[in-house]
Amino acid sequence: MNLFAAKRIVLAAIATSLYCLPANSQDIIVKANRPVATIQPHMWGIFFEDINMGADGGIYAELVKNRSFEFFKPLMGWKVQGKKVKEGDVTVLHQEKEKPSNPRFLRLKPKQAVVGDMGLLNEGFRGMGVKKGLRYDFSLQYRLTGTAKLHVILEDSSSEVLGRAELPLTTSAAWSTKGISFESSATVLKARLKIWVEGDGVLDMDMVSLFPTDTWKSRPGGMRSDMIQWLADMKPGFVRFPGGCIVEGFDLANRYRWKNTIGPVDQRQLIMNRWNIEFAHRLTPDYFQSFGLGFFEYFQLSEDIGAEPLPIVNCGMACQYNSAEFASLDELDPYIQDALDLIEFANGDVTTVWGKVRADMGHPAPFNLKMMGIGNENWGPQYIERLKLFTDAILKKYPGFKIVNSSGTDPEGERFNYLDKELRNMNASIIDEHYYRRPEWFLQNASRYDQYPREGSKIFAGEYAAQTDRGASPNNTNNWRGAIAEAAFMTGLERNAGVVEMASYAPLFAHAEGWQWKPDLIWVNNLQSYGTPNYYVQKLFATNKGTHVLSILFNNETLAGKDSLYASAALDSIAGEVVIKLVNVSSRSVIKPIVLEGVKKVDQRGKLILLRHDVPEAENSFEQPLNVAPAEKEIKITGKKIQFEMPARSFSVLRIKVR
Ligand code: AHR
Repeated sequence: MNLFAAKRIVLAAIATSLYCLPANSQDIIVKANRPVATIQPHMWGIFFEDINMGADGGIYAELVKNRSFEFFKPLMGWKVQGKKVKEGDVTVLHQEKEKPSNPRFLRLKPKQAVVGDMGLLNEGFRGMGVKKGLRYDFSLQYRLTGTAKLHVILEDSSSEVLGRAELPLTTSAAWSTKGISFESSATVLKARLKIWVEGDGVLDMDMVSLFPTDTWKSRPGGMRSDMIQWLADMKPGFVRFPGGCIVEGFDLANRYRWKNTIGPVDQRQLIMNRWNIEFAHRLTPDYFQSFGLGFFEYFQLSEDIGAEPLPIVNCGMACQYNSAEFASLDELDPYIQDALDLIEFANGDVTTVWGKVRADMGHPAPFNLKMMGIGNENWGPQYIERLKLFTDAILKKYPGFKIVNSSGTDPEGERFNYLDKELRNMNASIIDEHYYRRPEWFLQNASRYDQYPREGSKIFAGEYAAQTDRGASPNNTNNWRGAIAEAAFMTGLERNAGVVEMASYAPLFAHAEGWQWKPDLIWVNNLQSYGTPNYYVQKLFATNKGTHVLSILFNNETLAGKDSLYASAALDSIAGEVVIKLVNVSSRSVIKPIVLEGVKKVDQRGKLILLRHDVPEAENSFEQPLNVAPAEKEIKITGKKIQFEMPARSFSVLRIKVR
């Protein structure tokens, strides 16, 4: 349906006289002819952060860990092998002349070496997941004096060979790149890469890499397609990247600097991932950011999946829970310049400095960046004074650009109140609120936004997730109890879409053997991935969002906890459907009539998507990925009053075609 027709449906719905039914206090009444507010097309989005091995070891499909020997311990992930290796035969060299951002490399001195004499073994990120019949691309950068041939072997944990290839290297005084491909003969969760050096001379190695060829959109050096598919299936309205606390860094030196994440991958300077050391109970010493995925790739990903990009930049403040280091105000300019340059990188004409960089990376067309977050969970007057400087500079150069502003770490309390007041005084366009709270909080706060001012600043529920134990506890789980509470809360977000313009669950990904933070939306191992019950809640909202909020009332009140029921309704003017979301958190099934007011005709066939489970503690897993998953069925509708059953502990999405 085209936009014109869509508009007609809204107007027709508004023009239709109220359909009168005998007042019945047991009816749930949807006023289909009374759109209350517009729902932003990008309302439901995703929050991506490189936490829990989300990027390296996660969506970034590189299988070699520490490929550039730039980890704090240069040989972490590697083992030197061979019966003829003597002291000084394999060394780590540091030479900044040619590669200042990637100065380390490995120097091997084979002496008439044959297979078994000198080699390397890379363990991958908790092993390497490989698939039977799939081609793998091996490559490296090297310099060579003398002769050398590499025997590249993919093997399982008992040294059973899965695939192999021989790569003869030609003498080269300058760094050159060479590669070879081979297939894996089996599917193995924890394979490893062995490289034997045959030859005589001096061989320098860097950027030793192994990629699967089934990456997202088959891009060489790209992303793990099964993980990205989960995101694409959600049809998210935006992608917030690169975090999260990772934007702030443990200290300013460790902050996320987008300019270091673009251009040729071997020139992207690796840094420690701040989640490496964040939690004493989940230390992850091998967690670094190679930036094989950087800002170009995140913009490209957003474009691929039809989502608005929402980058967050450092505001001159490191994490206030860690170093709480602030850039002095008289040295804030480079930080502000980074933000301005980012807009140019995303949108600038190819004749601009940063627009040209984007074009040189293969994307001459702009990415159409419309919004950007300044700071992550920063707070206090120090934040406000820095934010004002950013805001003035950005709006001066790019009037109308949307700035997302932090309201700190918590959705209430002194810090929150201070920021909320200051930001509203500044006429901030969007305020980013975060809530990592118990499921009960989500239920109690389903009407949080009913009282928010309709005018002025809009809200971005930028990070939230029900914590079944306590905030960021390792005992949190992605169970149905948490997910259904989020669904109930999200009806409140949708009901208030005129105020809450965007929302995203956080964090997004977690590797089963590499996580730091629970709960998370999508769990993966080296080969598999599954969506949690929380994922299905997010997906159902995002794929059934509608275009306009409709009023849905029970006894003239919003359904936000009464009788354990929660509800929202929307008109999808494009599909010509009323979309009703109903959450029953109680342990008994409830039958209630739903009355559609203000429609001329109701189609006799509707669609019901039901997400439910009897057991609040139910979870999904690699073994049972669909334990809590939506089921779809057609329902018969006779007239404008529908007897509707909301099963115990259920989230129902009802789609009804109307005229
Ligand atoms: O989502 C995990 C972390 O929670 C984010 O990095 C941070 O913004 C919040 O505290």
